[in-house]
Order: sequence, then C-alpha cells, then structure tokens
Amino acid sequence: MKGNKIYIIGNWKSNKNRQDVENWFTQLVSENVLDNKLPNKEVVVCPSFIHLELAKWLIEKNKLSLKLGAQDVSPFSTGAYTGEVSASMLKNYAEYTLIGHSERRKYFKEDDDMLSQKVQMAKDEGLKVIYCVPDDTTIVPNGVDIVAYEPIWAIGTGKTDSPQNANALIGHLKQKYPSCVYIYGGSVTADNIVSFVSQDYIDGVLPGGASLDPIKFSKMISAINSL
Ligand code: PGA
Repeated sequence: MKGNKIYIIGNWKSNKNRQDVENWFTQLVSENVLDNKLPNKEVVVCPSFIHLELAKWLIEKNKLSLKLGAQDVSPFSTGAYTGEVSASMLKNYAEYTLIGHSERRKYFKEDDDMLSQKVQMAKDEGLKVIYCVPDDTTIVPNGVDIVAYEPIWAIGTGKTDSPQNANALIGHLKQKYPSCVYIYGGSVTADNIVSFVSQDYIDGVLPGGASLDPIKFSKMISAINSL
C-alpha cells in the first residue's frame, strides 16, 4: 500500500555556483508549478551545503512550496571534525538529508557502520532521512524515513530500471522495513515519472540530472500535478 503523498526529491550533487542557483530559482518561479499547496505532493531540492542558506532565502522570498534537503551529513556531532557539517548545523536550513548515496559509498568509501552513525546523528537532530540503496539486500538502519532504490547502472546513464522491476524490488524491501516510504531514482525524467509513481509501492522519485534544469524539474512537477 502507498502513502498519500508523492515525493519529488531533486539531487543537484556537486553542481551549480551561486549564480546558477539564483537562475534556477528565477526560472522555477516563472514556470509557476509550485504555487498550489496541494497536500498530495512533497517537492524537495538538495543543493550543496553552501547553497542551502541562499536556497532557503529564495524559497521564503518567493513563497514556494518547496522543501530543502542536504546531500549528506556528518557521522559525528558538533566538535573537532575538520571539514564536516553536523546535523545540528543543517537543521536550521534543511528538513531532509540524503544518506548513503551510491556516489558517497563509492568515492568516499562510506560503509554500513558509518552510514548508520549518520542516520543516528540526523535523527537526533530531527532531520528526515532519505536513505539510498542500490538493491534489496542492503541494510536499512533504524530511523530511516524514506528509502530510495537506485540501481547503480541507472544513475546518470539515461537507462532506468523498469517500473515493474523497481516495484517488485521495493516490495521485497517493504516486507523487511515496512514503516519506510519508498522512492525510485536513476534517470528519472518528466517522460517516465508517472510510470514509476503509478506503481503500487513507489511513492516518489529522486531525480539527479533532470533536477538541474528548472524547466525539466517543473515538467516533472506538472506531470504529478495532473495525476
Ligand atoms: P540521475 O541521478 O537522475 O542523474 O540518474 C539520480 C541520483 O543519483 O540520485
């Protein structure tokens, strides 16, 4: 069974400078897709840490029904951890945080223990956790709110898993972790978003590349608005 909300969570990864962020918001506002506060959708964007404050300001200024997420969080609390951004810092700006994206696992060697610690830190500070898994055998720590199934071969390749297969795999995960909400990520676009969210167990999507372009992002929101 599904929840009553559809999630669109845009992951900008390590893209956009300050001007790009401002331009993205200007264009998004002119597309006018976020003016109605329909209770059936939750639209989130995850900029880099240093653009969270600017994004928050632009959201408030333009009265957008758009939430913010961080792309990562420190496994430690505040203190002598050079370079880290703690959950207590993030909670002033973001409602959500991604944890365990396959790029973090691959390039930064983040393992299950470290990722559990990150989830713990995020939950202690009241952040909602979007936990990414590449398959249905990966352990999902306690406290995770949203699980994003993202097959590695589908990320940034233009090839998606089939909606039916994604739904079946998420069905297995849901048996193990019934309290989580489930979304799909990997080459999601405005053209395929509906085929995913119309599956029984899929409550939303995590687009990367398609979220960078405000027109493409708006088209995904419009596709959901018209459901
Ligand atoms: P993609 O990225 O939409 O560009 O495939 C998805 C992700 O990595 O979250």
